[in-house]
Amino acid sequence: MIKDDLKKILVSEEQIANRCKELGRQLDHDYADKHNVLFVGILKGSVPFMAELIKRVSIDIEIDFMAVSSYSGTESLGDIKIIKDLEQSIQGRDLILVEDIVDTGVTINSLKTLLYNKGANDVKVVTLLDKPSRRQVDIKADYIGFEVENEFVVGFGLDYNQRYRNLPYVGVLKEELY
Ligand code: IMP
Ligand code: MG
Repeated sequence: MIKDDLKKILVSEEQIANRCKELGRQLDHDYADKHNVLFVGILKGSVPFMAELIKRVSIDIEIDFMAVSSYSGTESLGDIKIIKDLEQSIQGRDLILVEDIVDTGVTINSLKTLLYNKGANDVKVVTLLDKPSRRQVDIKADYIGFEVENEFVVGFGLDYNQRYRNLPYVGVLKEELY
């Protein structure tokens, strides 16, 4: 069982579910006057968070996904490459980028620039986790589930070499597994 590979659980299923309800209420409030808001999930890490979050949003939205290059092992690659692009035009639309974690900030920083260049009216970021101690570019997510320390985390979408995404909570692996 993959849960036996964990040293500790950082964020429980219940904490994630409750926080998603709060974030949903907040987004309903902040986007009450907007029309046709597009939630853009960053594959693959955002999938469980996207699923949990959109159930708690009651305004009229659409969803889409993008895939960008990310980590190989535990090291950030420093720049991003689009592997799967959005399916519809984003001209003049309000976008909410949905991320699993903001670490160095390189990914959301590059993505925001790219999406504004493609004509988005507004791009905000909602992330399940924030690791502010690792930031390399001066950027903040607009909505944050939980702040984590400078530790590599897995679960609820987050992977280590593509594994552990299916854990229903967020935790830290035992040292000998890295
Ligand atoms: P950033 O561009 O450095 O902010 O990195 C963002 C991406 O790196 C996230 O979407 C994750 O895929 C990955 N990442 C960063 N920290 C972790 C971690 O602790 N566990 C798993 N993936 C991580
Ligand atoms: Mg990711």
